[in-house]
Amino acid sequence: AEHIAVAIDGPAASGKSTVAKTLAKRLGLIMVNTGAMYRAVAWATIQKGVNPAEASDVVKMLGEVEFRCGVENNLSTVLVDGVDPGEELRQDAVNGRVSKVAAIPEVRDLLVRMQREYLQLGSVVMEGRDIGSVVFPHTPFKMYIDASEEVRRKRREAEGIIDDPAARDKEDSNRKSSPLVVAEGAVVIDSSEMGIEEVVEAALEVLKERG
Ligand code: C5P
Repeated sequence: AEHIAVAIDGPAASGKSTVAKTLAKRLGLIMVNTGAMYRAVAWATIQKGVNPAEASDVVKMLGEVEFRCGVENNLSTVLVDGVDPGEELRQDAVNGRVSKVAAIPEVRDLLVRMQREYLQLGSVVMEGRDIGSVVFPHTPFKMYIDASEEVRRKRREAEGIIDDPAARDKEDSNRKSSPLVVAEGAVVIDSSEMGIEEVVEAALEVLKERG
């Protein structure tokens, strides 16, 4: 059977993770959180005392640390030398350096390869920044979930997370390697004034139209 990929991209705190999770659950697909993979690399630089701004040091680390992706209960998992960093992936120190490691082409090459391999396991809903533009450019199922800067900042505050989504978006949008863009053919859904259920309904509509 042909496996399909639903690509969901958008800026930080746009609500795309919640939508992707809900969608995957409803459709019985594997939900792949690619941000967690970039976060795992950032987390590893903390463990190893590697400066994330020194690309050559980060690349050297990639050869010394094993990153393994898997699936548990239809959700993607990532292990760093066999260890699941768990909630530590969301800590402030990781937020502060993830965009730096994500700008390194060798990091992206490694993770994109792992992301594409998920399709051998089954159909996926994959969320990130470059899924529709780079990872699965040929899928007809592409969405870009947006929200105003104010709404996104408030959502982060409500989660009690110290993060500066706007600063990360700026770094993510301005990098040379696979910047955050609206992929060609993606349907833009602005979730600023919508509840989760509404966004999920809109996403299901896109899948129906294009399926
Ligand atoms: O989605 P999340 O906010 O967890 O992503 C964390 C960071 O990982 C992003 O700010 C971005 O720098 C990077 N990322 C990326 N490409 C992806 C997913 C995440 O560059 N597909």
